[in-house]
Amino acid sequence: MIRSQGAGVPDPAKYRHLSVPLPGEVDEGTDAAVAALNRHFNPDDFHVLRNGASLDVWLRQVDLDCLADAVERVLGSHPTALPLRRIDAAVRKIHSYGINGGKRLYVGYNRERKVVDRLGKVRRRGKHYYANDHAFARENAALPGAFVDRVVCGDSEEVLRQLPDNSVDLVFTSPPYNFGLEYDGDGSKSDDARDWESYFAKLFRVFDECIRVLAFGGRIVVNVQPLFSDYIPSHHIISNHFMRRRLIWKGEILWEKHNYNCKYTAWGSWKSPASPYLKYTWEYLEVFCKGDLRKAGQSANADIDAESFKQWVVAKWSVAPERRMTEFGHPAMFPEELARRVMLLFSFRGDVVLDPFAGAGTTCVAARRIGRRFLGIDVSEEYCRTARRRLADLQPELI
Ligand SMILES: C[S@@+](CC[C@H](N)C(=O)[O-])C[C@H]1O[C@@H](n2cnc3c(N)ncnc32)[C@H](O)[C@@H]1O
Repeated sequence: MIRSQGAGVPDPAKYRHLSVPLPGEVDEGTDAAVAALNRHFNPDDFHVLRNGASLDVWLRQVDLDCLADAVERVLGSHPTALPLRRIDAAVRKIHSYGINGGKRLYVGYNRERKVVDRLGKVRRRGKHYYANDHAFARENAALPGAFVDRVVCGDSEEVLRQLPDNSVDLVFTSPPYNFGLEYDGDGSKSDDARDWESYFAKLFRVFDECIRVLAFGGRIVVNVQPLFSDYIPSHHIISNHFMRRRLIWKGEILWEKHNYNCKYTAWGSWKSPASPYLKYTWEYLEVFCKGDLRKAGQSANADIDAESFKQWVVAKWSVAPERRMTEFGHPAMFPEELARRVMLLFSFRGDVVLDPFAGAGTTCVAARRIGRRFLGIDVSEEYCRTARRRLADLQPELI
């Protein structure tokens, strides 16, 4: 039963309390319906008491489907007790809860039980210690109009030199992976099979420019697929570079592509520990912050909905790979949905998003669809033409 403190009042430390007003006359039928509803639940988890012209809901945990179902069943035998639906609606409106075996848990879900003096220990360890002695200026600048909502053809390292410090809010990109893909270009322009040292040296020169032009509190999100077959952990090497440059590693999103059509095993390694070859159906999104984990922005310009937020902060995203690469004539595109999620989760409406390896313009297209400004840069004239063509017919579809 609900545990009471003193004169019959349940202990508020053990329950989330909601008061649901009852419109109009309250009759005996309401009391009977409330009693019938209570019988569907363990009273230690969920219990409703009538309190004059309102219902007191004492809530520890509940499965929302069971609650909706119980309300409808009770209404079947007490058809006038429609105010019960208000209980269901009020519980659904609570946005802070944990999950416990399919039930929403409303009390104690964020208690740190195991670690005593947690904050003191965080201080002693040194939170993101590798990034704390940065020298990033806090003043942000506007991106000059000539670069806003543009696709610029050129080498990113050179194009980015023309931008002021601290002038873009989010960088989202997928660099050339050095897998030997056949990109457009004459080989010297877009060579995708260099020796690794010179590949990373060039990539890091571009990323250093990205860090410079990124606003204080801005984010860089890099989609990267390591070259597993050559044992090159590009995601670790790139992450190390950003951390050496004093960016805070915010986290890593696993992009599950369900891409199972890779060969099953290396020749000679079947059922042998001699050299089993590991298989991957996913890529990584490495997320970094400049100077601060918190990004400035107007809450009115936060446009992600509650359900997407809840799903996407779980950092494993199932998103199908781009299927229109032949149509757009590019061999290594990511899908618009990936860019859309990154922008909704990590930027505000109206922010400037930069993609320094823009390819067929996927980031720019996704940005325009959801009311972000953008700058896309690619070394290939052909890909820039494709990106501009994709953009030409789009209008912002604000969500
Ligand atoms: C993995 S693709 C990006 C594809 C893009 N995310 C899309 O969905 O279309 C990498 C791109 O980087 C471009 N690139 C390579 N080196 C570059 C450089 N130095 N400056 C600008 N773009 C470059 C290539 O032409 C290629 O289009």
